[in-house]
Amino acid sequence: MRSLHLQKNSNHTNGRRASVSVSASAIPRLVCVAVFFALLVFLIQSSLFNVNRSSIDLSFKEEISVLSNFQSTVQQCVANRGLGLTSHVTDHCKLILKFPPGTNSTWYNEQFKIFEPLEYHYDVCEAILLWEQYRNMTTVLTRDYLDVRPDGWLDYAAKRIAQLGADKCYNQTLCEEHLNLILPAKPPFHPRQFRSCAVVGNSGDLLKTEFGKEIDNHDIVIRDNEAPVNKKYAKHVGLRRDFRLVVRGAARNMIKILNGSTDEVLIIKSVTHRDFNTMIKSIPNPVYLFQGIVLRRGAKGTGMKSIELALSMCDIVDIYGFTVDPGYTEWTRYFSTPRKGHNPLQGRAYYQLLECLGVIRIHSPMRAQRKQDWSDVPSREMISKAHAAALCLKRGRADQAALGQFGSCKVWGNVDPDNTGPISGSSDMSEVRKYSNYSKWELMPFGSLRKEAQDHYVQMDGVSLYKMDGNKLDDLVCVRHSSKSEV
Ligand SMILES: *[C@@H]1O[C@H](CO)[C@@H](O)[C@H](O)[C@H]1NC(C)=O
Ligand SMILES: *[C@@H]1O[C@H](CO)[C@@H](O)[C@H](O)[C@H]1NC(C)=O
Ligand SMILES: *[C@@H]1O[C@H](CO)[C@@H](O)[C@H](O)[C@H]1NC(C)=O
Ligand SMILES: *[C@@H]1O[C@H](CO)[C@@H](O)[C@H](O)[C@H]1NC(C)=O
Ligand SMILES: *[C@@H]1O[C@H](CO)[C@@H](O)[C@H](O)[C@H]1NC(C)=O
Repeated sequence: MRSLHLQKNSNHTNGRRASVSVSASAIPRLVCVAVFFALLVFLIQSSLFNVNRSSIDLSFKEEISVLSNFQSTVQQCVANRGLGLTSHVTDHCKLILKFPPGTNSTWYNEQFKIFEPLEYHYDVCEAILLWEQYRNMTTVLTRDYLDVRPDGWLDYAAKRIAQLGADKCYNQTLCEEHLNLILPAKPPFHPRQFRSCAVVGNSGDLLKTEFGKEIDNHDIVIRDNEAPVNKKYAKHVGLRRDFRLVVRGAARNMIKILNGSTDEVLIIKSVTHRDFNTMIKSIPNPVYLFQGIVLRRGAKGTGMKSIELALSMCDIVDIYGFTVDPGYTEWTRYFSTPRKGHNPLQGRAYYQLLECLGVIRIHSPMRAQRKQDWSDVPSREMISKAHAAALCLKRGRADQAALGQFGSCKVWGNVDPDNTGPISGSSDMSEVRKYSNYSKWELMPFGSLRKEAQDHYVQMDGVSLYKMDGNKLDDLVCVRHSSKSEV
């Protein structure tokens, strides 16, 4: 392609030389011709550039067309569901979500001295690669992971224990003492373990709706920090208590909040520390550490962690109690007074994108009267195709075929298949923890898992995938288990 055009180009250059030699008397005409040819050369050169670029694209024509179709579906979905948000597609991967003009942007960013912007740029290809990956991920920290990850104990484990200071984990025994309580041997939960999950945020919006029954109808319910669950709020937030993501600051109130709910699984978002360990020893609830957090990046986007956790276990993720309707200038909580918060517009835009990428389904006061119709959200089939296309563009077709489902594995480890000990619970547990009911959800016998979870396990060859660091796409830690030990 390229050489063809170069040829054409040089033909025209010859043509110009020919015309220069015609006649010196007709100077104005000559200038005209020269300008004309200069223009022609310029045009050809710039078209050469374009043709050149599109000829690279040409080998991915199929993928680009799949992604462009996908973009149109996403765009239509945002138009239908976004409550005023519009999507502007800039190429097969990029789009901009815009709030309508006149949207009240009162949130002021002290650091950058600007009001919250009214438009947000996204790369749909990257987003779909990232979020589809979560469906195959383990998001609970395990002993396997620490053993396999380079510097897993010395460096990473140390980061998950507050007050350890510069000692790190040079003395691994000491570190293990801190983590034993909350460190299962291998992944306690499976990808695809549940069909539907409700993720319940703490927004004051919940009081405007009566989603209680609907929330309780999910296979599991995931709640956040101190969220109270009792008769008083039942019709708004439901009564089921399955999982709760907590930050360490919540340790003080946890016993009061749990109020005798002994099966509820606690997952610590950030780091464990002495107070938390003391609290854990006094309750029988299963407790784990979240795996995949970006350490030292503030509280921003903690709602996102609940979605990541949910997606790593559930096919369908319904979110309630996130502040996602138009017109808010501050955050509220259903059980306490309003507090000042961060970017409401940024969150709203991103959650809307996630809904239109088939990651979550949003429920809110302004959506409450809607028929539960998700036909305008891309189907699983369409998402799979778009995912495959995005992966092709990123890696190249041959690479992708060769690497298969383990293409992102950067670190590999094998786990001793003869190690069939308990997943959680250690001999040095306190008296009360002997009665922990880990068996409620934790690694059920293989035969009693959902068919989808079993199929996935077989397709993955018994390999568990973990994020090395937060939101990076590549860099997975992959641990191979013997399927023998599971059955
Ligand atoms: C924008 O928000 C501010 C602060 O909450 C409020 O005083 C003002 O009335 C709002 N303006 C519009 C047009 O909604
Ligand atoms: C490591 O820590 C344990 C538990 O605190 C202690 O008994 C042991 O002596 C320590 N080992 C070293 C080499 O410091
Ligand atoms: C604690 O649980 C008991 C019984 O389950 C209930 O009657 C009580 O209202 C709960 N307390 C709070 C503060 O939720
Ligand atoms: C543990 O959970 C299972 C499943 O919900 C339940 O059947 C069992 O009674 C619970 N055991 C205890 C000791 O609470
Ligand atoms: C996720 O797992 C399935 C098998 O259940 C596999 O086919 C697929 O390639 C995996 N996707 C990613 C993004 O890892």
